[in-house]
Amino acid sequence: MLVLAIESSCDETSAAVVRDGRQVLSNIIASQVDVHARYGGVVPELAARKHLEACPVVIDQALQQAGVSLNDIEGVAVTSGPGLIGALLVGLSTAKALAYSLNIPLVGVHHIEGHILAPLLEQPIEFPYLALAVSGGHTHLYRVDGVGQYSLLGRTLDDAAGEAFDKVAKMSGLTYPGGALIDKLARQGNADRFEFPRPMLHRSGFDFSFSGIKTAVLTQIKKLEAPLEGQLLQDLAAGFQEAVVDVLSKKAFKAAKEYGLSRIVVAGGVACNSGLRERFAEMADNKGMTVYFPAPLLCADNAAMLAVAGDFYLSRGYRADLALNARSNWPLEQVKVSEFLGGAQRG
Ligand code: KG4
Ligand code: ZN
Repeated sequence: MLVLAIESSCDETSAAVVRDGRQVLSNIIASQVDVHARYGGVVPELAARKHLEACPVVIDQALQQAGVSLNDIEGVAVTSGPGLIGALLVGLSTAKALAYSLNIPLVGVHHIEGHILAPLLEQPIEFPYLALAVSGGHTHLYRVDGVGQYSLLGRTLDDAAGEAFDKVAKMSGLTYPGGALIDKLARQGNADRFEFPRPMLHRSGFDFSFSGIKTAVLTQIKKLEAPLEGQLLQDLAAGFQEAVVDVLSKKAFKAAKEYGLSRIVVAGGVACNSGLRERFAEMADNKGMTVYFPAPLLCADNAAMLAVAGDFYLSRGYRADLALNARSNWPLEQVKVSEFLGGAQRG
């Protein structure tokens, strides 16, 4: 099945053409970061307006790059939540209009479902696996038993990991979004110079907390008398990143062990982090486990990732009606394959 996917949940407008939920023919991403950088974070109203401008453009480009026309498209998959409501509505309304006018089926896909299935666009992965979703809005651990079969094992009780990266970047005088900048600085830094806490690491369960690390960094910055630059900034970034990577990796591997899972998928924007990638690869090697990180383009917000679940539901006969609405808040564990396909078609 040839699916057109559309993503507009935050500050990236993206459209992709994907065949059979696996073969990415195009995946166009228009980023709005420049628009929001001067405000130090995403401005929801501006995001919605920018999506409105970018949506038709990225769709045209996606079709062109895939070498197909709208009439070749057999189904539309769109992020219907969670995310910024105004932003989501732009992609959703566009998807509905296309599905209606082309008389083809439509499916609303959960944004995090997209992230944690994204590595399937690159290689087959056997279920079940553990998924760590780490982005600007999520730090969640799931057991994934199949498409539409997700159990929540743990989640952040306060900030998401990406949010902590962005806030630490902001306090360090870096631009938004600062995750990638912290990553770059950390590579040159000495992680042992500053010791930051590892919240919840030794507690039972698999929940996380990142606001304490962020506050500890702020306290440290206030104590420093020298200007925050050069080696000092690199060491601070390295110490902070080390603390986050330590907690994420140790908790994820502990959860995998407890639930008897030998495969781990790490997905979402923070999965681009080089320290996180190295640590997971190293631990997986030591423990005889396999870890999958999507390519950076598939870690960040993109539309192709939606086509894995989108194609799965559509090709089995699921059709959303035009009353489909956007949901700003939508826990992934509420997504059930049985609701898409009915009890008989579970799988
Ligand atoms: O998945 P994503 O693109 O958007 C959301 O759904 O939130 O994730 C964006 C987050 C931002 O917080 C950004 O700073 C972070 O991912 N990020 C990184 C890196 N690249 C992006 N964080 C740490 N290291 C990176 N290399
Ligand atoms: Zn995302």
